Amino acid sequence: MSHECILTEVRGDGALKTGLITLNRPKQLNALNDQLMDELGQALLAFDADDGIGCIVITGSEKSFAAGADIAAMAGFSHMDAFKRGHISRNWETIRQVRKPVIAAVGGFALGGGCELAMMCDVVIAADSAKFGQPEIKLGIVPGAGGTQRLPRAIGKAKAMEMLLTGRMMGAEEAERSGLVSRVVPAASLLDEALATAAQINTMGQPSVMMVKELVNEAFESGLSTGVRYERRLFHALFGTEDQREGMGAFLDKRKAEFRHR
Ligand code: CAA
Repeated sequence: MSHECILTEVRGDGALKTGLITLNRPKQLNALNDQLMDELGQALLAFDADDGIGCIVITGSEKSFAAGADIAAMAGFSHMDAFKRGHISRNWETIRQVRKPVIAAVGGFALGGGCELAMMCDVVIAADSAKFGQPEIKLGIVPGAGGTQRLPRAIGKAKAMEMLLTGRMMGAEEAERSGLVSRVVPAASLLDEALATAAQINTMGQPSVMMVKELVNEAFESGLSTGVRYERRLFHALFGTEDQREGMGAFLDKRKAEFRHR
């Protein structure tokens, strides 16, 4: 499928490959308009449905992962325009339907909706050039794609409140220290590092990979005892997979597991 605002390709040479999505509106620093978000949603769902794909990586350009929702596109909206078009809600939540791991490879600006998009991903790897922020307050609005909810969960209330109230940006090192990103890497090797992480995940048994994602997300939705009970049910269920036989068999045989993802 051809797109105007994103590029898609398949990377890797293992049994499971990686779907790579590059946000591609360089002149607007990858500002997220409805078309880009629709295309991103379509690409995510297509990779998720493809049995040959194990992980998805989303990246932007060297200068900007995404500089937020497209301000020019929404500047003239009335309340009713925003509400009736389902602005933000219409196509931003698609990423939450994806059951395979999604890795954000963030270089340069990840602001507003760009920071929110990164936070919706399962793993965030940042280039040393990355700058995160929720500057909506400077535009006379508040974040609309989960920023006020996901940022405090990621970095704690005090820091999130300060960032949301002042709109200041946070560099990559502070983002790693604060728990917003899992790793900081040199900008030149950002994509290679993200693809290597995806390739590593692709060697694992896919049922357990998908269940880890579901369970970690459940930790943000339910109380501890409900989450732990849910984990136990999925733990038990994995004994019905070939991958569990292979993983434990390989350990006992002192060889490397060759998962068949079933
Ligand atoms: N929407 C639309 N266009 C944008 C944009 C955005 N979010 N961010 C940058 N651009 C455009 C600029 O208008 C400019 O276009 P022109 O060349 O046609 O003038 C081009 O991208 C380059 O930008 P700058 O000249 O400003 O580049 P810079 O290097 O000087 O500054 C920046 C970079 C700090 C990211 C600055 O562009 C900026 O502050 N952008 C806005 C960031 C922002 O406020 N994001 C939040 C949006 S609201 C939101 O996201 C709501 C939500 O919760 C979903």
